[in-house]
Amino acid sequence: MSDVPSLIDTHGRAVRDLRISVTDRCNLRCVYCMPAEGMPWLPKGDLLTYEEIARFAGVCLTLGVTGIRLTGGEPTVRADLPVLVRMLGALRPGLDLSMTTNGLKLVAMADELRAAGLARVNVSLDTLDRERFHRLARRDRLHDVLAGFEAAKRAGFRPIKINAVLMRGFNEDEAVPLARWAREQGFELRFIEWMPLDFSHTWSREKLVPADEILARIGDVFPIRVAHGEDPSAPATLYEYLDGGGRVGVIASVTRPFCGHCDRIRLTADGQIRTCLFSLKEYDFRRLMRGGGSDDEIAALLKAAVWRKEPGHLINSPYFKQPERGMSAIGG
Ligand code: 5AD
Ligand code: SF4
Repeated sequence: MSDVPSLIDTHGRAVRDLRISVTDRCNLRCVYCMPAEGMPWLPKGDLLTYEEIARFAGVCLTLGVTGIRLTGGEPTVRADLPVLVRMLGALRPGLDLSMTTNGLKLVAMADELRAAGLARVNVSLDTLDRERFHRLARRDRLHDVLAGFEAAKRAGFRPIKINAVLMRGFNEDEAVPLARWAREQGFELRFIEWMPLDFSHTWSREKLVPADEILARIGDVFPIRVAHGEDPSAPATLYEYLDGGGRVGVIASVTRPFCGHCDRIRLTADGQIRTCLFSLKEYDFRRLMRGGGSDDEIAALLKAAVWRKEPGHLINSPYFKQPERGMSAIGG
């Protein structure tokens, strides 16, 4: 195996970014993601061990992957996460290692994660209003998230990004307050359009707040222009504030799909590779690894999977079918 990018698909895209979901569990129950109760969790024995995850990631690095992002569910609810961070960091010096988190456990864990080699964090925050947070995440924990941001800052994570999801009739009026707060704090805010990936199948186009509307709301108060020179495979389209107040982004997965530049694959907590968030097919690496498969066999199956990577999602097509698993079981 060599370091030449060899995870190529039939559309000429190379895979560079591996998202690893370490658990499907979470300590919140955001309405756009999970039902209040009755989530069918994966059995513990089905989760890849940290050794299995690190082995798989190691093979990916020999095939051209340059960045790894840890996700969930909520990654920090898996026991001893810093141990995994250290194992992944040891695979290659300078590896771009990041995590998406809801922030609840950052007060307790930020320093340890940073010391273990985690470089960057994206923290989810959809509202700055306590009551609303309680209704949206079904837990009264806004205070802990805000304290988590402070802890992340103190621990030295740079940059710190915010992921925000807006829903019509729920928090669409928070675009400007969130933008103002992020500017004040020096965080880079990105709005993600709500995608049909919720467990309860409550998504509807009417409840999605389109990127154009979010940008118009922000631009009315803080004038912006398109930022140039960005990585074309990054999902966010970035804008800069004309007054030098930093940047704000939109991930317009639904209204402006960017599948043509996608360089991502996802490893689920139970060891399945998905070549798209909306894949209807998964590749079983847990079975391969637990059945004694060699690194060459892992590489061969991965190349075959990536070769067949979907050209794009079909959300805007009449043939769209929502995948069986939701975002929290796939990894964001
Ligand atoms: N659509 C868009 N974003 C979502 N997230 C969770 N579910 C959805 C969805 N259905 C966000 C979370 C988190 C990131 C992993 O994705 O808020 O920031
Ligand atoms: Fe948990 Fe993230 Fe889903 Fe909210 S969106 S319930 S924080 S996994």
